[in-house]
Amino acid sequence: MAGKTLLRALAGEVLEVPPAWMMRQAGRYLPEYKATRAQAGDFLSLCYTPDLAAEVTLQPIRRFGFDAAILFADILLVPQALGADLWFVTGEGPRLGPVDTAAGVAALKPAGDVHEVLSPVYETLRILSRELPRDVALIGFAGAPWTVATYMIAGRGTPDQAPAHALKDGDRATFEALLERITAATVEYLSAQIDAGAEVVKLFDSWAGSLGAEDFRRYALEPARRIIAELKARHPGVPVIAFPRGAKDAYAGFARATGADCVALDQGVDAEWAARRVQVDGCVQGNLDPSHMVTGGQALVDEVLRIRQAFGGGPHVFNLGHGITPDADPDNVALMLETLRS
Ligand code: CP3
Repeated sequence: MAGKTLLRALAGEVLEVPPAWMMRQAGRYLPEYKATRAQAGDFLSLCYTPDLAAEVTLQPIRRFGFDAAILFADILLVPQALGADLWFVTGEGPRLGPVDTAAGVAALKPAGDVHEVLSPVYETLRILSRELPRDVALIGFAGAPWTVATYMIAGRGTPDQAPAHALKDGDRATFEALLERITAATVEYLSAQIDAGAEVVKLFDSWAGSLGAEDFRRYALEPARRIIAELKARHPGVPVIAFPRGAKDAYAGFARATGADCVALDQGVDAEWAARRVQVDGCVQGNLDPSHMVTGGQALVDEVLRIRQAFGGGPHVFNLGHGITPDADPDNVALMLETLRS
């Protein structure tokens, strides 16, 4: 079978060498990213300037030859498009005007209105569809509703998502209305990304692991199922990667229950277990610990080979278990790919 290796793996093909890309592959560990980011002035201007966002998306492709490029943007653009204030404090992270009351949720814009703010992102994708090498797949993405809600409710990142849990348990109607709005906006956003050239989309539920079993079904699994069903109805054949980070045992069956073509595994998941319990349902992605991109050496080589071996019997997309960190060494990224492809 010919075609882009990422699309082949997502369709269930077992490849001799799995396709590879990295979460946060465009980022501060790369000097060329820092230069373009300085040119943009700040992070959000970089996200909303299509030429520069396309440029940083392409940088890791040029330097390392990954099999896929992920759109450069951020999961918090959706809250901004829904009318929440958003800004980034350098060295600290995102800040948002909190949306944690019934009145706050009611004041959000309708899901169909998000394109006004997000249209530069679609332009970035159109540029990338023209400029990417022919064998490199283009991935679009959005945050999953629960993860996006944790930032909207708290107005910032939190170690334990306590404000979001408090709203969920204290005022379920308001919490569910917020989740509903984000879910609908996410469908509109990902659908428009596909129209603009995304060949695959990924749903990042970075904080899924903080939900108890019943809440996980209601607020991680069910929204993913709804978003995927709607995308499949509108865009049959476009694969979806789901990343319920920290799902532990609930990774088993997640693809079947949601309709995802692939589930992304974090580094806390045992690869042998996942090969038996998750890969039975289709493609898996992951799951090298990003710390190896800092430390490198023989431990990195051994881990790449171990993961490749564990998932070698089924469809696999090689990736990290979470985003690469700013203190990573680009030489270790090159060593990872060289080892994988040797
Ligand atoms: O993977 C990629 O390379 C694509 C681009 C991408 C970014 N953020 C760029 C970014 C993607 C897919 C994201 C997703 C994202 N953003 C998530 C989910 C995935 C995850 O990592 O769990 C979350 C929770 C966010 C929210 C967010 N954005 C935070 C908490 C921060 C600050 C933390 C930090 O690393 O500084 C960001 C900023 C951000 N998003 C950066 C990048 C490259 C760093 C900004 C900078 O250049 O200073």
